[in-house]
Order: sequence, then structure tokens, then C-alpha cells
Amino acid sequence: MGSITKAAEEERAAAVAEGEEEWSDEAVVYVNGVRRVLPDGLAHLTLLQYLRDIGLRGTKLGCGEGGCGACTVMVSCYDRTTKKSQHFAINACLAPLYSVEGMHIITVEGLGDRQRGLHPVQESLANAHGSQCGFCTPGFVMSMYALLRSSKQPPTEDQIEDSLAGNLCRCTGYRPIIDAFRVFAKTDNSVYTNSSSENTNGQAICPSTGKPCSCRNEADVNANESSLSLPVKRYSPCSYNEIDGNAYDERELIFPPELQLRKVAPLKLNGFDGIRWYRPLKLKQVLNLKSCYPDAKLVIGNSEVGVETKFKNAQYKVMISVTHVPELNILEAKEDGIQIGSSVRLAQLQNFLKRVIVERESHETSSCQAIVRQLKWFAGTQIRNVASVGGNICTASPISDLNPLWIATGARFQIIDVRGNVRTTLAKDFFLGYRKVDIKPDEILLSVILPWTRPLEYVKEFKQAHRREDDIALVNAGMRVYLREAEGNQIISDVSIVYGGVAVVPLRAPKTESFLTGKKWGSGLLNDAFDLLKEDIPLSENAPGGMIEFRRSLTLSFFFKFFLSVTHEMNIKGLLKDGLHGTHLSAVQSYSRPVTVATQGYEMVRQGTSVGQPMVHMSAMLQVTGEAEYTDDTPTPPNTLHAALVLSKKAHARILSIDDSLAKSSPGFAGLFLSKDVPGANHTGPIIHDEEVFASEVVTCVGQIIGIVVADTHDNAKNAANKVHIEYSELPAVLSIEEAVKVGSFHPNTKKCLVKGDVEKCFLLGACDRVISGEVRVGGQEHFYMEPQGTLVWPVDSGNEIHMVSSTQAPQKHQKYVANVLGLPLSKVVCKTKRIGGGFGGKETRAAIYAAAVAVPSYCLRRPVKLILDRDIDMVTSGQRHSFLGKYKVGFTNDGKILAVDLEIYNNGGNSLDLSLAVLERAMLHSDNVYDISNIRVSGQVCFTNFPSNTAFRGFGGPQGMLIVENWIHHMATELQRSPEEIKELNFHDDGVVLHYGQLLKNCRIGSVWNELKASCNFMEARKAISCFNANNRWRKRGIAMVPTKFGISFTAKFMNQAGALVQVYTDGTVLVTHGGVEMGQGLHTKVAQVAATSFNIPLSSVFISETSTDKVPNASPTAASASSDLYGAAVLDACQQIKARMEPIASRGTHNSFAELAQACYMERVDLSAHGFYATPDIGFDWTTGKGSPFHYFTYGAAFAEVEIDTLTGDFHTRTADVVMDLGFSINPAIDIGQIEGAFIQGLGWVAMEELKWGDDNHKWIRPGHLFTSGPGSYKIPSVNDIPLNFKVSLLKGVPNPKVIHSSKAVGEPPFFLGSAVLFAIKDAIFAARAEEGYSDWFPLDNPATPERIRMACVDSITKKFADVYYRPKLSV
Ligand SMILES: Cc1cc2nc3c(=O)[nH]c(=O)nc-3n(C[C@H](O)[C@H](O)[C@H](O)COP(=O)(O)OP(=O)(O)OC[C@H]3O[C@@H](n4cnc5c(N)ncnc54)[C@H](O)[C@@H]3O)c2cc1C
Ligand code: FES
Ligand code: FES
Repeated sequence: MGSITKAAEEERAAAVAEGEEEWSDEAVVYVNGVRRVLPDGLAHLTLLQYLRDIGLRGTKLGCGEGGCGACTVMVSCYDRTTKKSQHFAINACLAPLYSVEGMHIITVEGLGDRQRGLHPVQESLANAHGSQCGFCTPGFVMSMYALLRSSKQPPTEDQIEDSLAGNLCRCTGYRPIIDAFRVFAKTDNSVYTNSSSENTNGQAICPSTGKPCSCRNEADVNANESSLSLPVKRYSPCSYNEIDGNAYDERELIFPPELQLRKVAPLKLNGFDGIRWYRPLKLKQVLNLKSCYPDAKLVIGNSEVGVETKFKNAQYKVMISVTHVPELNILEAKEDGIQIGSSVRLAQLQNFLKRVIVERESHETSSCQAIVRQLKWFAGTQIRNVASVGGNICTASPISDLNPLWIATGARFQIIDVRGNVRTTLAKDFFLGYRKVDIKPDEILLSVILPWTRPLEYVKEFKQAHRREDDIALVNAGMRVYLREAEGNQIISDVSIVYGGVAVVPLRAPKTESFLTGKKWGSGLLNDAFDLLKEDIPLSENAPGGMIEFRRSLTLSFFFKFFLSVTHEMNIKGLLKDGLHGTHLSAVQSYSRPVTVATQGYEMVRQGTSVGQPMVHMSAMLQVTGEAEYTDDTPTPPNTLHAALVLSKKAHARILSIDDSLAKSSPGFAGLFLSKDVPGANHTGPIIHDEEVFASEVVTCVGQIIGIVVADTHDNAKNAANKVHIEYSELPAVLSIEEAVKVGSFHPNTKKCLVKGDVEKCFLLGACDRVISGEVRVGGQEHFYMEPQGTLVWPVDSGNEIHMVSSTQAPQKHQKYVANVLGLPLSKVVCKTKRIGGGFGGKETRAAIYAAAVAVPSYCLRRPVKLILDRDIDMVTSGQRHSFLGKYKVGFTNDGKILAVDLEIYNNGGNSLDLSLAVLERAMLHSDNVYDISNIRVSGQVCFTNFPSNTAFRGFGGPQGMLIVENWIHHMATELQRSPEEIKELNFHDDGVVLHYGQLLKNCRIGSVWNELKASCNFMEARKAISCFNANNRWRKRGIAMVPTKFGISFTAKFMNQAGALVQVYTDGTVLVTHGGVEMGQGLHTKVAQVAATSFNIPLSSVFISETSTDKVPNASPTAASASSDLYGAAVLDACQQIKARMEPIASRGTHNSFAELAQACYMERVDLSAHGFYATPDIGFDWTTGKGSPFHYFTYGAAFAEVEIDTLTGDFHTRTADVVMDLGFSINPAIDIGQIEGAFIQGLGWVAMEELKWGDDNHKWIRPGHLFTSGPGSYKIPSVNDIPLNFKVSLLKGVPNPKVIHSSKAVGEPPFFLGSAVLFAIKDAIFAARAEEGYSDWFPLDNPATPERIRMACVDSITKKFADVYYRPKLSV
């Protein structure tokens, strides 16, 4: 009865709210040219959910928070005023479905496919090797497509790079993507041709990129064909039309005529759980709705509201989309300033202001210029295309980039109430508290008036974030000064200094402002102003966001920059006599990124039809068209349930009770499964079974799985899981390595030691001229594969068998875990993996626990169950790269020769052992990097901490081990006042050396690699050039570094170095290969297929690899340790050779004209055309009890050079140059190998300089204990397209076959990762230069990642000294 009354009341209220208007519920969109009527009832859906539900699964879900771009689609709408269409890229994951009503949505499927043919954007990306795992690929295609269609002229290369800032790729390192797209840029066409492979200067044109490069110049050692496989292509637009934009293809989808003619109607639609969605067309309608629904949520871009509803469990019953209300979309230059309607999109504002800046007097537009500059760093293109001015203001986020500027510029906000009364308030009075503004429930923001600036009025903007592009600010600011001239002096009439990111509201600096007012502009003001700013902008020790010393330093740095910029501007105008000293100009130059230049050098050593050639990734065509299927795209069987995990919220606690009563009554709920429901064994683990699938009594980390809820939809499962209430009794938690070492919290039996020579004796005998000691903290890293963890499990024959499709690097682990948890034999459990959207080690073992958890409800309910993790759940639960702590004592001679190294290393294992011991062991084995050390002792132990279990990650401990080495080498060099590069060269090891674990070093190539690099980067010249730059620039410094690497190839567990393959030849001459390795973007299937093609002497197109499956090739090792091409290539070759041997008698008759005819003839003669191949790596083995043996089959060598530039006042940096040389033997596929090097280098750059994991620990008290703060792309920043080196050169050492491996190649996946550390040491070199200015030349630690915080605080100056001492070391979770 009660609910009937409530419903009736709601209806009555709605009737009043809707007034006399005719609201329509007919929602029409076009998707890829097809008209679709959107049913009512879907107001809770995003555009992405809808697209995927209707089968358009090319658009991917990578994060759901607008941070990765995997969901990018193009939206076109018709502007009735200008009679033009607008085309823009948006994130479908944040767009409410009904927000695109009346628009045309083009997804990747709308461009082209294999049947219809590829669109030029798709074709170019595929041919340029721009797609590895392919998960990000449709998003990139759509961003580029939207740019092309929306521009009248071909875009510039700058515009192309800018437009990709909202798209992340974790595999490629972006270079091939940029190259693929730059062929669409407006540039000098004469260097490009459609057929020739040389430009007018006789320079070779790269087949991949269409740009001059060296690849064709190299010796084509075995070339038996004259040209490379790929055509060189430039694309230019065919036609432009105001309605349809640029058409690049005659099959381009046009803007649907119906949408031009269609009358736009006000909309009223509904959604799940009583949600109402209104799209009024008049301000009156908005006000009427608002008067009836004071709690209604206004929505424009939904970039805040979408995040609140998805991640903060906010629920809004009435949503009013105000995108179509003319009064809220005003954008007009008026006499007293610019009127900006609150619904104006940021991209619109940006374009408008750019026009205004050109049209008006420059003194009038100082504010406009500051806003345009700030908007450049505001989010990515997709967000700016939808996010509104009003949305940003009314959200009142403490880190809003615009709010400090509105205040500083004296902007006024016009507010209208539901009766139509308009009031005006100054921006400075508008922000009242945390996300609280001066708007009553019956009011909305109408518009903003931005006043023109006057002569002698200067406005500047500031922002420092972790990542320059598409990141929210750590601290930002808006500053304005208005001067008047009096007796030849410039007197401050009025000044505004406003900071964001330092308090719950934008904070003014009142004392500083009043001190400055009336004073003469001059550097004499600075010191007092600094002192007052320090008082004005306090930050308490545990303020949210942390980094107190840094953020406070930034507030002063920004003011200093402001002061210098204004001084400089006045000086240019001749208003000030004393300008800036030349070296101080470096504080005012803003960063602007030139176009990326990249070259790749390699030789092609052709072997047969395919090996040695830069073949395109076999799935590239499917990936660029969105046809490639990943786990979440697999069609689900009927009756499938969706799962969500119930996770621990405590780092260490006893579970007291689990209450599922609310969950049970949640819509769609089908069951909750806990440890007691496990049919088989609840304990599991890859090596020892020390972890529970479902925590039974005690939880040992936040994010540990306690249970799994299944329901009819993903959202319902999540809602129900959130309603499971758990009571805990907390226990003490260990939350860092240091704490673990202090209390002796280690995983059992993990203490290890490796010894060579006698360290003690060497120290005791006093042979060392000098002895240094220190500590290296090595930060962890999130895998951030673009495809989140996921699995679909279904029972066969009512659970007699279990099958699954999983995103995993180790299908066999899934098979084992699932069999174990269900108590089934391995023979009844099958795991298949077609491809995965990146793994990097994160899907080696940790993925299997999800499959085990999902298998329980699937088995018990006899129904298929699917689990796809949300990005935050993935990051919180699945473990990361291990952080390490290294303690060293190093003895050496005055000449720089290393004599003794005593090393203790610890890694943070988390709450289960997983692979942590093997990771530690590899770190210990790499604790010499490339150096000859006669006396060395490395001891190590795995710490038990109350964090999710850390796991494999590209390099598997090797990079951490080598980073510790490079740190103490740098310490040595500083001690000796010599360059680190000299010390390295002095100590390189060579053939014949016995390494500290007993392996004899053979075929050592470090010398060749190093010398080649040194010549290539012109190291000596580079050193001179940066010294000159540094002498002339006080606030910007450049640094360089060269770093070598030697990476051991093989699993260190001997038994894992085996591989199986199944090769089947069909009677049409095509070959199906199945092997135990997983394709995760690294091109394994392509390389293995090349081996098969060459073996049978057939084209690559005749070989196919469909999937990896445990029922085809049993007992496979995980695809890891870089060795998969070696192992599976050899196993496939073995199978091919068996088949060839069987074919030989028939082949020798010479009666066949093709392989197909031969296969048919063999079939007729009853020859078995299927073979199982096998390979086991020879001559390896290691005994940890003696610490001696030969764990590695061989080593891959490389070296990298980097040059960086830092802004010493803010800690901002960019990499100017990276040059990488690697020894990869005779590469099986140089294009794929170069792609691996570039991708690994950029991932390594992320690890050392950008990606910081922040955990709730002693160092981060503002985060709840044991919780991960950086749990999504919003807070965890991997490199984006604009973080790659401006000059990126990669080359492979030539003429160096590797006798140990198939086709003389070498493994590549992991070895280049460590080379990214050249950027860290180049940053350190630059910091040395900055410190030298202040008289500090001693050694200092620089932990990774060298984020702006670490860079700024290490560049000690009078500002930092106000907040921290000279030896301050910023906090790091290790
Ligand atoms: C990936 C990503 C990156 C981002 N990067 C940045 C960044 O670099 N800098 C930055 O400052 N912000 C950033 N943001 C935050 C966000 O994009 C901006 O705040 C944006 O401007 C919000 O606009 P919107 O139209 O999407 O707001 P919506 O989500 O549609 O609305 C936001 C709020 O404003 C209210 N509102 C909107 N209009 C009115 C009105 N007329 N009257 C009263 N209330 C109103 C809504 O009711 C709602 O509460 C980012 C967000 C994401 C998801
Ligand atoms: S899925 Fe939409 S931006 Fe990541
Ligand atoms: S290819 Fe870009 S994420 Fe894998």
C-alpha cells in the first residue's frame, strides 16, 4: 500500500515537473549508419554498455572512468544554427546512453573490416606495426578518425599527437602509432611516394612509417626478393563537406539526412530502479523540473557524475541533461567580457578563446590566454569534447584547473533560481567548502562572465601533475597582477594569487596579496612574499594527497615563475628597465613539445619464405577493425551468470561474521559462495599452496577474496556484492619491507645467498681504497595491461567437465587451479585463450585465482559464470611488480675498479609466496649487471607483508636487481668524481669470466653494444652540449646517461624450460599450428608461424594459429621469461621436420607443383600430416644449495642512452632523446622485435620516472591502512603518447648470430625493459647540475619513480629549504 502511494506521489510530482510540455520518449540514434530507436528504460546505461550489448564489441572497456581511451567512438551531431555537423571523439564509457540521442555514433566497426576492406586509418595502423595486443587499437583508430573527419584541412603532426593524449597503450611505446597516423598529416608530400622506396635525396623510406629511415639501407643479407612486403602509402583527404566532414574513403559513412531534418524534441525517459532522464530544450523547462525535483542532478558531460555513480556509489533518481538549452550554451564576446554559458563544452571554449585572442587587442586577452594554456593540459581530447564549464565549476573539485583562474581573473558567476531571478556572485565568493558551492537547491549556474584584462594587467596559470597530459593537478594556480605606472615605477594596484590542490577550496593568499598591493614591482619583494605565502598556504602533515613539502614548495615556485614571467613581459614591452638575467629566462619558458622523430635500424637476414622479415602481426587486421575477440567479447552461453568479488577491506583481520541478508534481496541475485562452498581444496598457489581461494577465517590483505556473488547482470552482481556485510576484528599488519625486516616477517624458506670470492677478507685486508655503503629503495609498478583480468567458465555434462576461456598467460595454471578447487582431474578441465590484451607477467599466476573463484559457482549451480574485473578491482587485488630494498657496501680502488660488493636485498612478497622467491632469485642473479666483481656476496629474503601478493612483471626481478647495481655504481662515480659511464666501462666483464653463480660467460656482447651506442649517441658531444646548456639556464637543467644490461634467458626453474607444439597440415596446403604459448601482443604467434612457413617453404599466409588450449598441447609453461619464441619456435620446428620427413618420399618424386598438391598427395598415400613437436632447453641447471650452476641458456645484451630536461622549480621533465642498441642475434621478425624494444623501454621509463603506487602505510597516513590509493588511470599514470622521447632511436646490432637458438635469434620481451632506467640516471645527472648551483656536489639517493616530487625536492634551493632539509627523501611505498 505504502509503495503504491509513493509511486502515485512520484507520478504526481512528475506531472507537475513536466508541466504543459510535450515530452517525447522516442529516442533515435544512428549507429554506423543504421537507425536505431533506443528503448525506454535504459537511462542507467552508458553508451558503451549499449554498444557492446548490441554486438559492437570492437569498442573496449579498459577503465570505465575516462582515463584510457579504449572506449573511444566518434559522435556526429548537427548544429542547426551554423548548419554544419560537428564530429568529435568521446569516451563511450562515460557517455550516458540517452545523451547521444539524435546523433550519429561511429564505432570502429563503421570504418571497415576484412570483408569490406580496411579504412585507410586502420590499414595504416596495421601496416605500421601499431597494434600489438590490440586492446587499445580501436580507441586509437577512432581518435584519429574523429580528428580527420572534423578538420577541414589535414591536421598537422602536432595536432595528431595532441589528439591522442587521451588514449593509452601499454604495449607499443606509441612510436609506431604516431608514425602510422602521421601519414595523414599536412606535410611535404614530396618525400612520400606510393611506389618508390627512396626519397628524392636517395634516402630510404621506411615501409612501415612512410618516413625516411635506415631500415632499407641495411644489408639484406639473404634477400631473395627485391622489396619489402609493405607498400609505402600517403593518404590525403578526398573531399570535405560541411555536413559530413572529411571523407577519406568512398565508403565513408555520411551524416544521416534524417538527423539533419529531424525536429529535436524534449525527452523524458526512464531507467532501472526508477531513474528518470530529462532532456529539456528550454531554460524554463529546466527551472520547472528543478523546482519540483530540487535534488535532481544536472548533467552535461557526465565526466564527474559518471565517476561518482560508478566508483562512489552515488545514486541520482532524476537526471536533467542540459546540453540542449540555448541559454546555457551562450558563448559571446561582450563589452564587459566574455559570457560563457554553463553548458559550454571545454573544447568549444578553447576554440572560441583562441579566435578571440587573435581578434582582440592582446592586453584585453591575458585571461583568455591563460585559460587556453591551462585547457591544453586539462584532461584528454575525449573529455574536453564533452565536459562543460559549469560541470567543472559546480563540482568544486579542490584540484579543478579552472576554478583558481576564475577567481584570479575576477570572473563573475550568474546564478538563476527556479523563479527566473538572476543574481551575480564573484567567483572568489562562490566556493564554500569541500565540493560545496553557493548554489541553493532551487538554483542553477547560468553563465560565467570573464572580464577583459586591461593594459598592465597580467594573468598566468600554473599546473603541476604527475603526468603532463591528461592528469589532474597536484597543485595548480591562477595569478593576476594589475600595475600602474608612477614616476617611472610599476606599482602593484591589485593582485590575486589563488592556488588549487592545497585545500578543500581554491585558496587565496590574503597576506601576500595585501603585502604586495601598493608596492613597487621588483625582485626585492620576493623574499617577504615567500615568507607570507608560506603562512598563507599551510598544509598539515597528513593532508590528503600527501607530498606536503613538495606541494608547499610548488606554491612558492609558481609565484616565483609568475614574478619572473611578468617581469620578462614588461621588459619586452620596454616597461621595465631591468629585465631578467639570461639564465633566469629558463624559469619562464613554457614547455612545448615538438613532433616526435624516430628511427629504427636493423638488418634483415632472410631465411626461407618468412623468417627474418618484418611481417605484420598476424592479428593486426582483426585488431584495427575491432574484429579481434578478447575474453569479454566471447559470446556467452545461454543462462550465463555474472560474478563480482566480495573483498576484504582490512589489511589483517579475523573475520567475525558475514551477513548476506541484504545481498540476497538485491535484484538479480543468484548466490553467494564462500570458502565453505568449495567442493575441492580451498588452498592453492603456483609453487606452494599457501593461499586460500576464499579467505576462511583470517584476511591478510585488503582486496583478498572472501566470497563471490553471482547475479543476472554484471551491475547486479556488483550491487549485491557491495551489500555483503562483514564484521572483522583487526590484527596488526606489516605494511612495508622495512617493517617486515624489523619484525622478521618473511615467507618461510626464502633466505638465499650467492657468493663469489671472499668479501669479508677483501674488506678486512684493506685492499679497497674506498668503501661506500647505502640503501636503494626500488618502487613497484602496476602492470596496467589494457584488458582487465577476466574469465568465462562453464560446466559441460552438468559439471562432469569444466571448460573456460580466460585472459591468461598460463592456461595450464587455470586448468590446475580450477581442477584443484573443484576436486576434478586435470583431464576434465580445459582452458582456452585466443589472445590477451596485454599481460606483462600480471596474468601469469594471479589470473588463475579468479578462474578458481568463478569455477565454484559455475560448478555448484551448473551454469556458465563470467567475471570481468573492473579496473580498480583488478589493480587492488592482482598484485604488482615487487618493490625492493637493497643495502650495499662496495669497496673499490681509486682508479674505479670494483673489488668487493656485499649486498642484502629484500622484496615485498605480499601475503602469499606466489612467484616472489623466483623473482628474488632472478634479482640476485642479476646483481652484477654487466660488471666483473671478484668478490661478491648477495643475500636475499622475501618479506611477508599484508599487501596483495606481488607477482611476475616483465623482467621478473632482473630490473630491480640491476637498478640496485646501477645505483651503487653512480654512488661510486660521485665518490671518485668521475662520470658513471667511465666507471662502467672500466668494470665490464667479458668472455671467460665466471659469474657469481658459477656460469661461464661466453659470447659476451656488452662491449660491442656499448661502443655502437656510444658512437650512435655521440656521447662526448652530448656531454659538452648539456654542460653548455646548463651553464646558461639556472632553472632548467639537462642530463644524460648511458645504461647497459645483460639479461639471462631461461626460466630459472629448469623443468619449465620445455615446450610442446602440434602442427597439422591440411590437404589444401594450409597449416594449423597450436603451441603452448599465449599471444599477448608480443607477436609470438607471428614469429612461430614464420618458423613454420619457412620450414615448409610456404608463404606466411598459409599458416594459421587459432588459439592456445590445454587440450591440444598439455602441461605448457606460462608464456613468460622472454623465451617463448625460442621454446615454441623450436618445438614447432621439430613438428614441422617430422612431417617433412614423412612427406619426403613423396616430395622426392617431384610430381607436385605446390605445397597443397604435395599435402594432397601425401594424404592419398596415407601419410600422417599431424605431428607433435617438443623442445627442452639443453645445458642448463642450477643448484641453490651450492649457489652454483648455469641457470641461463644465453644472455641478451643492450644499452641505452637518454637525455632529459628538467624544470628544477616544478620537477617537470621530458626525455629529449633515447637511443637504444640491442643484440638480438638474427631477428626472426625485426619489426616485432623493435616493437618489443620500444614498448619495453617506455614501460621501463614509466617504472623509473612516472608510475608511483601509493599504499596506506606509515608513509601515507592519509590513506586507509593497506589500501591502494592509486587504483585507476586517474591516479596511476602510465606514460602517454606525449611522454615518449622527442627523438627515439632503436637499432639492432648487426652480423651477430646467436648459435644457441633457432634461426640464430635471441629473446627480446624482457631484456630492454631495464634500459628505460637510462632516463632515471639522466634525470639524476640533471639534478646534479641543479644541486651544483647551490654548492652541493655530494651523492644523494634518488628513488624510482623520479616523479616531479622527487625531482623538485632533490633540486635543493632556497625554496625547498623552507620546507625540507637538504637530505630530504620523499616518501615511497616499498
Ligand atoms: C578522465 C578525466 C580527466 C579529468 N581531467 C581533469 C583535469 O585535468 N582538470 C580538471 O579540472 N578536471 C578534470 N576532470 C574533471 C571533469 O572532467 C571536469 O570537472 C568537467 O569539467 C566536468 O564537466 P561535466 O560537464 O562532465 O560535468 P558533469 O559530470 O555533467 O556535472 C558535474 C557536476 O556539475 C553540476 N552542474 C553542471 N552544470 C550545472 C549548472 N549549470 N548548475 C548547477 N550545477 C551544475 C552537475 O549537477 C554535477 O554535479 C577530469 C575528469 C575525468 C573523468
Ligand atoms: S574505458 Fe573509457 S576511457 Fe577507459
Ligand atoms: S597494443 Fe596498445 S595496449 Fe596493447
